[in-house]
Amino acid sequence: MKNRICQLLGIQYPIIAGGMVWCSGWRLASAVSHAGGLGLIGAGSMHPDVLREHIRKCKSFTDKPFGVNVPLMYPEIEKVMDILMEEEVKIVFTSAGNPKTWTPRLKEQGMRVVHVVSSSKFAQKCEEAGVDAIVAEGFEAGGHNGREETTTMCLVPHVRRVTSLPLIAAGGIGTGAGILAAFALGAEGVQIGTRFALTKESSAHEAFKQWCLSLSEGDTKLLLKKLSPTRLVKGVFASEVEEAEARGASVEELRMLLGKGRAKKGIFEGNLEEGELEIGQIASLFCEEQSVEEVMRELISDFNTGIERMANGMTWK
Ligand SMILES: Cc1cc2nc3c(=O)[nH]c(=O)nc-3n(C[C@H](O)[C@H](O)[C@H](O)COP(=O)(O)O)c2cc1C
Repeated sequence: MKNRICQLLGIQYPIIAGGMVWCSGWRLASAVSHAGGLGLIGAGSMHPDVLREHIRKCKSFTDKPFGVNVPLMYPEIEKVMDILMEEEVKIVFTSAGNPKTWTPRLKEQGMRVVHVVSSSKFAQKCEEAGVDAIVAEGFEAGGHNGREETTTMCLVPHVRRVTSLPLIAAGGIGTGAGILAAFALGAEGVQIGTRFALTKESSAHEAFKQWCLSLSEGDTKLLLKKLSPTRLVKGVFASEVEEAEARGASVEELRMLLGKGRAKKGIFEGNLEEGELEIGQIASLFCEEQSVEEVMRELISDFNTGIERMANGMTWK
């Protein structure tokens, strides 16, 4: 599986564990890096001093490359970026914002910069901004999402058409076959969120993990589109949002309904009724809490089996 993404990031397998609020601390990031992928610490849910602590712990638990995901709308963004520079973080995945704002400064520090997009228009902006690679994230993904609802299947070839930069696919990928499909579409790496959010090393609450591992197909929905489109598990809070949206609630009303700290309440504190439960469509494929090592092993062996299956009898003459 050695390719441009492996070379760029210094990793063995082009498998990245996406930065995820309340899930991706040093424990998850270091485990994925240790297993040959790239672990990302999710700065989005950390106070700057907590982030520093997680970076230091991650360094002490693995000597392999790891990175930090920074959603660019983070309120104390300057402080976060200072910490990345002070702690000599080498890889940064930015998301939810304009890549032109920070990429040049981070690159000046010698960092590898990768930006997450949900459309080919933004992929072009990434290229202009000088990023090293792009993550194209389809709307199957857990967490915040693109308004256009472009699926990974459609987005990856669109983005591939507009850029020759190394390309990482995300959204709905959680198996070796999914990785193979992403590669067939033109990606050279994958960013996986949901499957890693439900591993033993994820810092999500046990109740959240077990709830997500019990989901059936169709149990998540993209909601809060007027505010910030987010894929949520159907449930008490999601129903409240759906009802509000059905009666035409304004952005302000939705903001009030969401309030503060809902994602923490749901994902980290395991409050399944009042919390905002963010997870991707692919969650319904999994029902067992595995370790990162088990997941990585399975991804790689399924990928290889998939290649063999394709080679044996999948050609057309
Ligand atoms: C619980 C959860 C929290 C997330 N938080 C973030 C985040 O803070 N920043 C970000 O760029 N992406 C975030 N994501 C998206 C992931 O990094 C990743 O791109 C996405 O989950 C991939 O799709 P998948 O869920 O189908 O695997 C989150 C995803 C989940 C499931």
